[in-house]
Amino acid sequence: MKRVAVLLLALEVNLAHAEAGRLSVPNNATWKQECGSCHIPYPPQLLSAENWQRLMGSLDRHFGVNATLDAGDNRKILNFLEHNAGSGARYSADSLRISDTPWFKHEHHVISDKEWINPEVRSRSNCSACHGKVILGD
Ligand code: HEC
Ligand code: HEC
Repeated sequence: MKRVAVLLLALEVNLAHAEAGRLSVPNNATWKQECGSCHIPYPPQLLSAENWQRLMGSLDRHFGVNATLDAGDNRKILNFLEHNAGSGARYSADSLRISDTPWFKHEHHVISDKEWINPEVRSRSNCSACHGKVILGD
């Protein structure tokens, strides 16, 4: 909570809106290792099963990088993601980005365009710039 408050102050977001809770993120060792090396392991419940299927089926073209896994690990991780996925349109985006889902836009409506491009944040995908472990768990 402290880290969120400090950065939000810098970003001039109304602190009255910063009372974020903590997500309970399920764990899986293979997922955490393989999907947490370039960015935080994005919580599975924030994207639909259909989106995870498409994402895991196109890891060779993963947002401009090649993140291909061997077939066994891919299947294990996809099972874990599907099992814990969010359901419905709220957690879906054609871009396969959590940061483009209706859920994300709703939760983050207090943040202005200027704040998103603050050099300390740079990208909506950079969750830990604002949340750290406070909200996203360990
Ligand atoms: C080789 C590095 C690398 C690996 C490994 C990797 N990713 Fe990514 N991922 C990226 C990059 C780069 C982006 C785009 C980040 C940006 O736009 O700021 C990204 C973006 C994402 C996004 C969209 C984030 C958003 O909401 O904007 C999701 C979801 C995602 N990755 C899931 C995964 C999963 C699941 C795995 C494991 C199977 C994985 N990634 C492994 C590099 C990687
Ligand atoms: C620029 C800072 C910033 C970035 C980057 C950011 N968030 Fe947030 N997030 C916030 C703020 C501010 C709120 C609103 C808190 C409120 O209204 O209670 C929020 C709300 C949330 C909530 C809802 C909290 C609750 O009470 O349930 C979750 C979950 C969340 N963000 C996850 C993410 C994820 C995942 C990412 C990356 C894909 C991300 N955030 C990127 C600042 C940010």
